[in-house]
Amino acid sequence: MSYYSVLGLQKEPFSTSPDPDFFYRSISHETALKRLEITIRLRRGLSLILGDVGVGKTTLMRTLLQTFKDEEDFILHMILDPGYKSEFQFLQSLVRLFDITTSSKSALDLKEALEKYLFYQGVDKDKTIVLLIDEGQKITLENLEALRTLLNYETNEYKLLQLVIMTQVELLPRVKRMRNFMDRIALKYTINPFDEPETKKMVEFRLNQAGYNNPTPLFTDDAIKMIYQLTQGHPRKIAMICHDALEIIVMKEQVQVDVQTINSLLEIHEINA
Ligand SMILES: Nc1ncnc2c1ncn2[C@@H]1O[C@H](COP(=O)(O)OP(=O)(O)O)[C@@H](O)[C@H]1O
Ligand SMILES: [Mg+2]
Repeated sequence: MSYYSVLGLQKEPFSTSPDPDFFYRSISHETALKRLEITIRLRRGLSLILGDVGVGKTTLMRTLLQTFKDEEDFILHMILDPGYKSEFQFLQSLVRLFDITTSSKSALDLKEALEKYLFYQGVDKDKTIVLLIDEGQKITLENLEALRTLLNYETNEYKLLQLVIMTQVELLPRVKRMRNFMDRIALKYTINPFDEPETKKMVEFRLNQAGYNNPTPLFTDDAIKMIYQLTQGHPRKIAMICHDALEIIVMKEQVQVDVQTINSLLEIHEINA
């Protein structure tokens, strides 16, 4: 029997995979999601979502993907790792991703094939083409230039490619060196970690999603307070601590995570606040 079923849960509540079912809509996450949705629907072009490691960028991206998945007029594609070394490789991967058939041999040919595709889908068929790129800090300057070219394609009313880049702040200086890339940013938003009440709500939300329906809270308020202090509201850190805390209480045959549980965790892992 798994550790979580002992606690009355059907699923693992604090997995660190970016599962939209466990995405708690804090003010910052919800704002990012809503503003992205609007920018995409208005076909305004480029959105940049910034945030530290573990703040929820990948989860947000998957949630956004889900938002549009049943809408026929939207074509969404996702690149999880854009660390392509050469422009040619990058363009090739885009052509493959968009399912474009071409015998193109040069970067120029590939760009033309992409342009043709964007005009065909975006104008002739009136589709909204969305490219979601995660780990934006891995995009080279050269490949940013290639993306900028794609962002140039537009009609009088809208851009043909909706580009969403999720990134750590390291990308910013690179982007800032390209003036006409900065000019094209329709939405720039930084995801913030949770505050203390949100930390509590996120923990409760994830427990509920995992099937917890016992009236006794699984975490005491003081334990949550301590988790907040240790993590400063960073989602990934919260998930990791909560996961370990649940394992401890199962091991010790306790029914609740309290301050002592968190303390014993700190002793084991020597986590520094
Ligand atoms: N809004 C959120 N609600 C619940 N869990 C979240 C939220 N944002 C992030 N997490 C959790 O934090 C962890 C890291 O999220 P992730 O999206 O991979 O962050 P990033 O891509 O910014 O590094 C995952 O376990 C994810 O489930
Ligand atoms: Mg990520």
